[in-house]
Amino acid sequence: MSGRERGNGAGGAARDGTAAAAATPAEVTRHDAIVIGGGPGGYATAFRAAARGLDVALVEQEEVGGVCLHRGCIPSKAVLHVAGVLEEANRAEVLGLRLRSDGVDGDGLDAFRAGVIRRLHKGLDHLAGVRTTRYRGRGRVLAPDADPAATSGPGAHHLVEVTDAEGGALHLDAPHVVVATGSRPRHLDALPVDGEIVQTSDEALWFTTPPERAVIVGAGAIGVEFASMWAPMGTHVRLVEALDRILPLEDADSSAALADAYRGRGIDVHTSALVRGAMVEGGVAELDVEVDGDARVLTADRVLVAVGRDPNTGGLGLEELGVLDARGYVVTDAWGATEVDGLWAVGDVRPTLALAHAAFAEGLTVGDRLAGVGGATAVDHTHTPRVTYSHPEVASVGLTEAQAVERFGRAQVVATTTSLKGNAKAIIAGSDGQVKVVHLAGQAPVGAPGDAGPVLGVHVVGPQATELIAAATLATTWEAVPEELAGIAHVHPSLSEAIGEAYLAAAGLPLHGT
Ligand code: NAI
Repeated sequence: MSGRERGNGAGGAARDGTAAAAATPAEVTRHDAIVIGGGPGGYATAFRAAARGLDVALVEQEEVGGVCLHRGCIPSKAVLHVAGVLEEANRAEVLGLRLRSDGVDGDGLDAFRAGVIRRLHKGLDHLAGVRTTRYRGRGRVLAPDADPAATSGPGAHHLVEVTDAEGGALHLDAPHVVVATGSRPRHLDALPVDGEIVQTSDEALWFTTPPERAVIVGAGAIGVEFASMWAPMGTHVRLVEALDRILPLEDADSSAALADAYRGRGIDVHTSALVRGAMVEGGVAELDVEVDGDARVLTADRVLVAVGRDPNTGGLGLEELGVLDARGYVVTDAWGATEVDGLWAVGDVRPTLALAHAAFAEGLTVGDRLAGVGGATAVDHTHTPRVTYSHPEVASVGLTEAQAVERFGRAQVVATTTSLKGNAKAIIAGSDGQVKVVHLAGQAPVGAPGDAGPVLGVHVVGPQATELIAAATLATTWEAVPEELAGIAHVHPSLSEAIGEAYLAAAGLPLHGT
C-alpha cells in the first residue's frame, strides 16, 4: 500500500466479500469519503470533496489519471497531433515549401507520446498526494452483513476492502463511497481480439509502425480518430460502420460532412456494414463483411475493434447491493446518488456520456454533494459538448436537428448551415467545414429578422472545432437567441468568426453568406 495515511479508526471487521460476514477483527481506517478509481471522474470527485474540507481516500489499482491519461484521450491526441503535422507536411508544395517527410520514426513517436503522458501524470500524481490519502489496490464495497442499518439512513457508512497486487488487503470505512472505475473496450463475438492483428484501442494506440492496410470496425469517436491518425501516415483505411452513417450520434449533416472529407482523403467508408466473421493467418486478417446486404471480403494487416465501451462494474460488490442495470451500468439519480445511502457513481460507470469532461462535471457535483454543499442543479449533459478529434474535427453541443424536431415538432425548429468555404483561416489551413445552428422559430415570418428563438444546438465540422465549441456551449446553456449572439464581435480573420457568421445567418442577417 502506498500513500498518506492518517491513522486508524475504532477498529472493524474483515469481511469475506459476500453477504455473510467473517467476524475477524481487522484494522479499519476511517475517512469522510472513499473514491474508488483515480481517472478523471474519480479524481475530480476526490479533489472537489477535499477542497470542501473532507478527508478523502482515493483508491486506484494502477496510476492516477485513468484510461484518459494513460491509454485514451491524451496519447491519442498526441498521435493525432503528429498525424496533423504530417498532413501539413504532405501539402508542403501547396504552401510553397520544399519539405519532404520520410514518414514515421517509431522510437521518436513513442518518446513523444510517452513524454506527454509522463509530464501530465507527474503533476496529477503530486496533486493526488497532496489532496487525498491514496491507496494502491483494487477497491471493493463490502456488502452489508449483521448490521444492515449501517448502509441506510442518515448514519449510513460503508466498508471498502482494498486488495493490492500481492493479495494484501486492508479495510476503509466512510459514510460516502464513490464508484468511478471507468470502462473498457467492448468486444465482438465475430471478431476475437488477439492484441496483435485484431486490436482494441488499448493495444492499437501504441503502434510505432503504421499499418499498411487497416480495417476499423465501428465509426464512432474512436474509429474515426484512428482513421485520422493512420491515413496521413500512408495507411489505406477502411471504416466499417453498422449504422447508416459515421458518427451516428452527431447531427446527420456533420456525419455527411466528415464522410465527404474522409472520401476526399482516400479513406473508404462502408456504412450499413456488418462483420460476419474473420480469419487471421500469417499476419493478415480477412474479414467477411456484409455491406448493404452484399458479401465482401476486406483484407488488412491491422483490424481495430471500436464498437463502444462497457462499464467496469464487476467484482466491486455492486451486484450484491442491487445498484446495477441489466447492462452493468450503475443506476443513479441525476446527481450521481444510487438508491443505497452514501453510495455514489461518476463517469463511464453511469449510462451517460463516456467522456472525460462529462466525468469531471459529474465528479465536481458529487464532490460538492458529499460535503453537503452545492446548488440544487444536477449536471445537464444536453449542454456538455461532444468532440471528435478527427481531421477535420467534429464538435457539437445541445440538440441535433432530428432531436429538436422530435421534441418540439418540425414547425418549431429552424436549422441554418453556413459553410467554412469563405473563411480565411480555413482556406489557409487547407480545410473545409460547416457550422449548423439549430434553434426554435421566433415570432416573425420565416427568414425575416426576429425569426429566431433560443439556440438549441450548434454543430461544427472543421479545423479546431473542438476549441470553437466552447463559445457555442454558452449559447445553448444560456438559451441565447441568434439576434443577440449576432451582435457579438468575432475576431477577423479567425476560425471563430465562422460561428459568428452562423449566428448572423440564423438571425436572418448573413454578412458574407447568402
Ligand atoms: P461509440 O459508441 O462512439 O461508437 C461505436 C460505433 O460502432 C457506433 O457507431 C456503432 O454503431 C458501431 N458498431 C457497433 N457494433 C458494430 C458492429 N458489429 N460492426 C460495425 N459497427 C459497429 O464507441 P467508441 O468509438 O468505441 O468510443 C467509446 C466511447 O469513448 C464513446 O462513448 C466515445 O464518445 C468515447 N470517446 C470519446 C472521444 C472524444 O470525445 N474525442 C474519443 C474516444 C472515445
